[in-house]
Amino acid sequence: MDYTAKLDEALTRLHDEGRYRTFIDIERKNGQFPHATWRKPDGSETPVTVWCGNDYLGMGQHPAVLSAMHEALDATGAGSGGTRNISGTTVYHKALEAELADLHGKESALLFTSAYIANDATLSTLPKLFPGLIIYSDALNHASMIEGVRRNGGAKRIFRHNDVEHLRELMAADDPDVPKLIAFESIYSMDGDFGPIEEICDLADEFGALTYIDEVHAVGMYGPRGAGVAERDRLMHRLDIINGTLAKAYGVMGGYIAASHKMCDAIRSYAPGFIFTTSLPPAVAAGAAASVAHLKRNPELREKHQTQAKILKTRLKAMGLPIIDHGSHIVPVIVGDPVHTKKLSDMLLEGYGIYVQPINFPTVPRGTERLRFTPSPVHGPREMDALVSAMDALWSHCALNRAELSA
Ligand SMILES: Cc1ncc(COP(=O)(O)O)c(C=O)c1O
Repeated sequence: MDYTAKLDEALTRLHDEGRYRTFIDIERKNGQFPHATWRKPDGSETPVTVWCGNDYLGMGQHPAVLSAMHEALDATGAGSGGTRNISGTTVYHKALEAELADLHGKESALLFTSAYIANDATLSTLPKLFPGLIIYSDALNHASMIEGVRRNGGAKRIFRHNDVEHLRELMAADDPDVPKLIAFESIYSMDGDFGPIEEICDLADEFGALTYIDEVHAVGMYGPRGAGVAERDRLMHRLDIINGTLAKAYGVMGGYIAASHKMCDAIRSYAPGFIFTTSLPPAVAAGAAASVAHLKRNPELREKHQTQAKILKTRLKAMGLPIIDHGSHIVPVIVGDPVHTKKLSDMLLEGYGIYVQPINFPTVPRGTERLRFTPSPVHGPREMDALVSAMDALWSHCALNRAELSA
């Protein structure tokens, strides 16, 4: 086997389809978010404004977070030194889990190194705890949930995105006595639409199923204390397992589930993705705990975030751009072609110092390639004006000149 030729073939396929991924090297500027420096391939540097980050509220530079991290770093050193089982459970991990359990009104919470791992590890472990479990999974669930469900060896049913009637049909067709779980998201991050939480909880009650919700794109940002859409809609108590991240609105890193004490205890005891990996550095846990605590008490950033999203959507819509608007904070502009999307992103970066990563298949379906903007409280009027006028200039230019985009 010519392994190198096989790698070339695989990479060429991506180039041919226009979806080879190029990473942009940036250095974020503490205290000046969303400003950053872009280090170009030739080694030169240029200032850019980041418009596609998931540090939705700018908490990655918040003084409360930074000082908690500095303190823990100085007090305990760099890493945790072990898995949770073998010397890697510190007071910082326990304090963060208590903060998260309280956030979601659950008995317990369990930390993972990311929300990806939390989803994958939990969903792949549940059939060990509930033999015969059938998982009903929304068709647009995140890759981490798909992986967890795929790897668990149990039965799965995929229901059409947000289609509770289809979910009902699938559940009704199964044996009423087998254990069931419905896995879905509160906000789908690429279109920014909301999951029908209440209807899904009603179905779960009717069919005796457990519910598993991914609130990764909602925690910190929705609800009176930032616990997510389920908190906003007063539905948290109806959800058995809530998954969240500490890497997006909380600005740090890590993921978790919040659930009953017994559920967390069982996942802690059976999930390889929890057991066999080093725990988060204590300074990371300390920063995340400070961020969660701060956002519980201070709704102002959440409110400003929503206002910023509304302003950006209104302004882009007024220019006639094809925006998807489901009322969430995510602002996707559909371009519909991978090559055009990449070209637009390159033109924004090189011509205007605006960084927005093109989003292609398999993250979104082919033909719906897009630019996904993430306005935040740290984007001021100057940054907003610059983005709107750049999009205006480029969109009109591109409409007149599709040929240049295809070049
Ligand atoms: C819906 C959803 N779930 C889970 C994750 C994983 O989160 P993390 O970055 O903490 O691994 C993501 C990441 O983008 C996501 O969009």
